[in-house]
Amino acid sequence: MEKFNIVMLGAPGSGKGTQAKILAEKFNLAHISTGDLFRKQISSGSPLGLEAKSYIDRGALCPDSLTINMLHDFLTKLPDVKGHIFDGVPRTVQQAQMLDGVGFPTVLPLHLVLNLNVDADEISRRLLKRAEIEGRSDDTPEIIEKRIQNYFAQTKPLEDYYEKKGILRQINGMGTVEGIFEELCKVVSAEMK
Ligand code: AP5
Ligand code: MG
Repeated sequence: MEKFNIVMLGAPGSGKGTQAKILAEKFNLAHISTGDLFRKQISSGSPLGLEAKSYIDRGALCPDSLTINMLHDFLTKLPDVKGHIFDGVPRTVQQAQMLDGVGFPTVLPLHLVLNLNVDADEISRRLLKRAEIEGRSDDTPEIIEKRIQNYFAQTKPLEDYYEKKGILRQINGMGTVEGIFEELCKVVSAEMK
């Protein structure tokens, strides 16, 4: 059976990780966050982690090839799954093309791209609050600002890329986690049938 593949798109702090985790549980899909994979590499002190850290700590995106190679490596080790929810990848048009089979050994047909829309004030509020609780090294006001700038410059163009493919769905990312989840579930259920 063909796997069902979803991409969570949206600005830093838009709720990609929060929603991907619960959607993955509900629909029995593998949640894959390249941000989490990089953070694991950093805590293990691997050369890949060391390289990634130099980008992450200044709010820049890691190079496409580094990201896609790490993702491919991770995917080949996954047990057989019904599908994937990609959280934070692809993040550039080049990464999207790679997932579409250009320079990527496996073609990953994507079925749905869920774009979470959250306004700038709410993004800052959420990330500064998380900074107090979790202390993620890239959640400082200066680095958050850089991440948002890079999102607009490098990731937002993906909306157009996936709109043209007819798989983009705009989701209101403001409101409660439960309310947004309910909306996402409706959209996913309708497509998975
Ligand atoms: P990554 O880890 O992907 O970070 P990000 O995209 O900047 O986004 P966040 O994880 O901060 O936000 P999110 O949208 O997941 O929201 P969350 O659910 O956590 O990437 C980090 C770095 O790694 C990048 O800057 C880059 O350097 C590198 N990287 C990763 N992938 C890459 C790639 N593909 N290519 C190149 N480089 C890459 O929510 C945020 C907070 O808000 C949480 O505290 C949460 O509890 C809270 N929250 C969530 N929903 C709600 C709600 N509805 N109401 C109130 N609070 C909420
Ligand atoms: Mg995240």
